[in-house]
Amino acid sequence: LPPRELAPLPWDESALQPVISAATVGLHYGKHHRGYVKTLNELIEGTQYGEMPLETIIARTDGRADRCAIFNSAAQVWNHDFYWRSMKPGGGGAPPPALARAIEADFGSVEACVKALAEAATTHFGSGWAWLVEHEGTLRVTATGNAHVPFTAGMKPLLVIDVWEHAYYMDYQNRRADHVDAVLRELIDWEFAESNLA
Ligand SMILES: [Fe+2]
Repeated sequence: LPPRELAPLPWDESALQPVISAATVGLHYGKHHRGYVKTLNELIEGTQYGEMPLETIIARTDGRADRCAIFNSAAQVWNHDFYWRSMKPGGGGAPPPALARAIEADFGSVEACVKALAEAATTHFGSGWAWLVEHEGTLRVTATGNAHVPFTAGMKPLLVIDVWEHAYYMDYQNRRADHVDAVLRELIDWEFAESNLA
């Protein structure tokens, strides 16, 4: 495999305004995400990890104290690739029918699922990620700290919200709940979640 490349954003940097400013997307993508890709390439060049798919690097380094720098960079590249695709301009609203049925079966209602996601994203202490996942045939909400991913614990990610401060602080300062609510109401891409469930 060639060095990991920074995956292109699925939309224009200003496309998520006014919920997420172009300045926040520019910094988040152009500095944070790009930085994780650069660090990962530096760390794995010429090592056994240099030829592995990203998911394999993450699985092989997860929980290893002597590999935590590689794990953190690889997982943050994976998480950000997934995060950008979890949002789109004109998102939010009602999930497509198949996903809506699955959500209603496991949460009772779409509203209850959105509330659970908002709560997980808002109450997670410190840096991390709030996820809608599928685990053993059931949809659920979970949160991971720092760079951690759900799939190393057997959970299939459907969508994610970045709750690191760099995701919202410039636009919302300490009001993480306001940011999360706006993302869920106006940006979250239920079609992406459904495609991951299929
Ligand atoms: Fe981030």
